[in-house]
Amino acid sequence: MSEIASGTAGFLFGGDYNPEQWPREVWTEDMELMRRAGVNTTTIGVFSWAVLEPREGEFDAAWLDEVIATLDEAGISFFLATPTASPPPWFTRVYPDAMPVRPDGTRVVHGSRDTYAISAPAYRAACRRVARFLAERYGQHPRLRGWHVHNEYGTIDHGPHAAAAFRRWLQAKYGDLSTLNDAWYTAFWSQHYSDWEDILPPRQTQYLANPAQVVDFKRFCSDEMLAAYDEQVAEIRAAGSTAQVTTNFMLPTWNHLDQWDWAEHQDVVSIDHYLDTSGPDGEAHVAYASDLTRSWAGGAWLLMEQNATGIRETDRTFVKDSDRMIRNSLGYIARGSQSSLFFQWRAGAAGAESWHGALVPHTGPQSRSFDAVVRLGAMLAQIAEVAELPAEGPLIEAQIGIVWDANGWWSLDTPHLPNEELSYAAEVRATHRSLWRAGIACDFVRPRADATGYRILAVPSMFALDDATVSWLTAYVEAGGHLVVGHFTGVADENQRVVLGGYPGRLRDLLGVRVEEIRPLAAGRTHTLTDGAEIEQWTERMHLETADEVAAYADGDLAGLPAIARRRVGGGTATYLSARLVQKSRDAFWTTLCQAHGVTPTLPDAVGTGLEVVRRRAARGDYLFCLHHGNEAVRIAGTGEDLLTGRTTDRGLLLTPGEVAVIRERPGATWHVTAV
Ligand code: GLA
Repeated sequence: MSEIASGTAGFLFGGDYNPEQWPREVWTEDMELMRRAGVNTTTIGVFSWAVLEPREGEFDAAWLDEVIATLDEAGISFFLATPTASPPPWFTRVYPDAMPVRPDGTRVVHGSRDTYAISAPAYRAACRRVARFLAERYGQHPRLRGWHVHNEYGTIDHGPHAAAAFRRWLQAKYGDLSTLNDAWYTAFWSQHYSDWEDILPPRQTQYLANPAQVVDFKRFCSDEMLAAYDEQVAEIRAAGSTAQVTTNFMLPTWNHLDQWDWAEHQDVVSIDHYLDTSGPDGEAHVAYASDLTRSWAGGAWLLMEQNATGIRETDRTFVKDSDRMIRNSLGYIARGSQSSLFFQWRAGAAGAESWHGALVPHTGPQSRSFDAVVRLGAMLAQIAEVAELPAEGPLIEAQIGIVWDANGWWSLDTPHLPNEELSYAAEVRATHRSLWRAGIACDFVRPRADATGYRILAVPSMFALDDATVSWLTAYVEAGGHLVVGHFTGVADENQRVVLGGYPGRLRDLLGVRVEEIRPLAAGRTHTLTDGAEIEQWTERMHLETADEVAAYADGDLAGLPAIARRRVGGGTATYLSARLVQKSRDAFWTTLCQAHGVTPTLPDAVGTGLEVVRRRAARGDYLFCLHHGNEAVRIAGTGEDLLTGRTTDRGLLLTPGEVAVIRERPGATWHVTAV
């Protein structure tokens, strides 16, 4: 675990700071307000390339020296970003070929941000140069908390540089063209390649693209961006800087990175997180992002960005009220974040994101949102001891693992599957949501990682599986684990080639079933199962081989046929759901399954009250984070002390809707929650 995340300095608090966009007198007020709020960390330089290197090879860092001196004097640390997410306008003029090309052939140019062709040699060289410059100049600065390399890697290029690099990647993977032709099944539609030079990224074509090519290109893009990241890290290290390095992942509705791979290249894993809804499900989204990141990181991690005051939903920004901002901030921390950092410190007066939220809103510090920022700063100081990591063991004890795999996401993104409504992200999220609603802690698991510690392992729809993953799942069940496999999992190999003879071919032996037909349902159509569950989107005509029936279709075309099957293997079980359970039924399924296997909620009484309870382990013991999202007051009682109020909880602590508590538990404490 890195120094940043070791926690001895308490939680990091602050956010992106862009003083180059403001006159000097504002800097003075910034320092005063940061002190008032207890800000201890900023992220500087993220989009500063054009001011830092106004002409090729000519650096002007006087302003940055001044920013750093200002922060230093105020006692505030900083992450220094390499500004490579946004090349300056001169870069387009000098290297037009280093601009990214869209699948339709349009080359985009500067004028926004994230405009770069990741494989263009000129871009890569310019990135190395600017990273080296910054590392030589600031790499030893005592206030440097760490390096924030780039920003949200994710621009996909389909141009000539990408094509050349993709070919090199494919040559390394397949060795010869005949292996590639076989893997890509190019006998179909006259796609056989006779020359490497003919292979292209999946660009705009007449009709459907080759699915194996699509997925390989996604794998290539993740590797290529990781190589670019590694090059910058190498420059930083070559300049002698030993500060911790991270790059901020984004968790949106698309995914361009294999985060498990990337996590291995970082000293500490960080993400940016923006709620995807202003409704109550936003709270589950915080938990989802946090559990994912803690799992990628293998422990503590950093929240690099969230929005202090707004929630963007398609075409409008709703207000994120102060209570919610505080609950969200503690929600990330409850699940392993060592920081509460925001985009951004001060709301822009102009520019494309001037209506984005900030710690200091347009109105200024005389605002209820800034009051909340000050309140949050004080709270983080009050709970500082929680940041100290335990000497061993996980931060959160979880008995359930959900398999997460970027390949799973990418393979379900390929065109023309039986029902394109099926989304990997939605399936993973729905399973996590059920566990969140049941108050049950869970981790995400990398395919083929050690999963023996999990009583239950969930595999949401993972259409394509390689041999090693199949063996891993089999071994898990044989060792006594309880595996739950979602519909349309293991139907194909890693190149999307369907296994013949009955679905899901790769897992038929393990699951003990044979599916004859996949029968999607029309949008909005539902059916019921014999156990009362409601299903949607997807059904399968399934025959039991060595498995037993758990529930059958109660109506519709498949009435009477099995819908959920379970095969016993020694002490373990493998369960297959051939249909998509609606969320309510999925919740019930998971609650029953957890009860059957003795997996209990963190605080059983809290379930259904709107009180989210997370137990986080720290160096000095266990802490209960109580985040009250519900509408009725609750009382929580047990032997402990609330760090935020200093009050004992022995005779009960009242939490009104929206309130939070962080309770230091006394060993052996038992807890009760009652509605008031
Ligand atoms: C991203 C970026 C920030 C900013 C925010 C806005 O996460 O990293 O620069 O654009 O989104 O939500």
